Amino acid sequence: MNELTPFWSAWIITITLGSIFGCYWLLASVRSNKKHPNGEVPTTGHVYDGIEELDNPLPRWWYWKFVITVVFGLVYLALYPGLGNFKGLLGWTQINQYEREVAKAEQEFGPLFAKYQSTELVELSQDDKAMRLGQRLFSNNCAICHGSAATGSYGFPNLTDNDWLYGGAASEIKTTILHGRTAAMPAWGASLGEQGISDATQYVLSLSGKATDNDAVAKGKDIFAANCVACHGQDAKGNKLFGAPNLTDDIWLYGGTQQQVMQTLRNGRAGKMPAWNEILGEDKTHIVSAYVYSLSHQE
Ligand code: HEC
Ligand code: HEC
Repeated sequence: MNELTPFWSAWIITITLGSIFGCYWLLASVRSNKKHPNGEVPTTGHVYDGIEELDNPLPRWWYWKFVITVVFGLVYLALYPGLGNFKGLLGWTQINQYEREVAKAEQEFGPLFAKYQSTELVELSQDDKAMRLGQRLFSNNCAICHGSAATGSYGFPNLTDNDWLYGGAASEIKTTILHGRTAAMPAWGASLGEQGISDATQYVLSLSGKATDNDAVAKGKDIFAANCVACHGQDAKGNKLFGAPNLTDDIWLYGGTQQQVMQTLRNGRAGKMPAWNEILGEDKTHIVSAYVYSLSHQE
């Protein structure tokens, strides 16, 4: 955590303690019991509409409640961090509290996840109880990118459709999730020029029957053969080693309009799927992998 410079630390301590003692001083200074000897309460001198404001002392309970809050504040500031760089006598931090809670949850719920570790993925994907755990893991960790129904969105693949960048075998899915994936589609704007981008786009669109310019398709085909087959394959059906998508199926990660495809070719793409091994651990990754597998393998 960042330390404050000694000046700002002292500044904060002075202001914090100054305000607490200042408040107390203000309270104590106006507390004086101004009851007149004959029992009459003086007025403050304010009169409005014939109503006079009496100058009664503060009620005792109110005064003591205030004192208690002052004491509470001082005790709190002694125990917990709050005064500049002073760490507090308990050594509490948000991070060590979080870590304690995670460790406790791990101890409590770890065995719940661990018992599925030895069940093979495809079999596990048919276990309702495990799949309920899997769904919860997915909602908490994956839905933010892939959507709560796992159907993906722009730049985030649909995981329910049996169209895979990196392979859809259970073990391939698990490898993706454990170690993450980084795609590298180069940018072609500089080397192909705007005309080349436009022609290659027409060829790519022709693969799913959406080309609008046959001359451009013919030129684009040559460009594709020269530049793209190494990753996307001779037949443009993709290559799971690189995560190069199938370009013939009219399923698009970055959109299939002419403009969107041109954008992809011009600037390149670099989709990144995070690695979960460190975050979820092997046991939970195993379950969520089976869950992802189950999404495209429903009876
Ligand atoms: C920060 C966003 C993000 C989060 C969170 C995320 N993913 Fe991904 N995931 C991606 C992206 C982006 C890709 C595509 C990578 C690419 O373009 O090559 C991807 C790809 C995948 C793939 C490969 C799909 C294929 O077609 O081969 C699987 C499986 C997957 N994610 C599962 C998960 C699971 C399970 C979780 C939760 C544990 C998760 N993802 C969390 C962004 C995310
Ligand atoms: C070095 C390997 C490589 C080469 C060469 C390559 N690509 Fe790609 N391409 C990829 C990868 C990987 C992706 C996926 C990017 C991602 O997931 O972020 C991709 C994505 C795409 C997409 C987006 C598909 C979608 O679903 O939105 C199109 C279109 C595309 N490439 C066309 C081409 C064309 C045309 C060429 C040749 C001019 C080409 N690629 C050359 C690896 C390559």
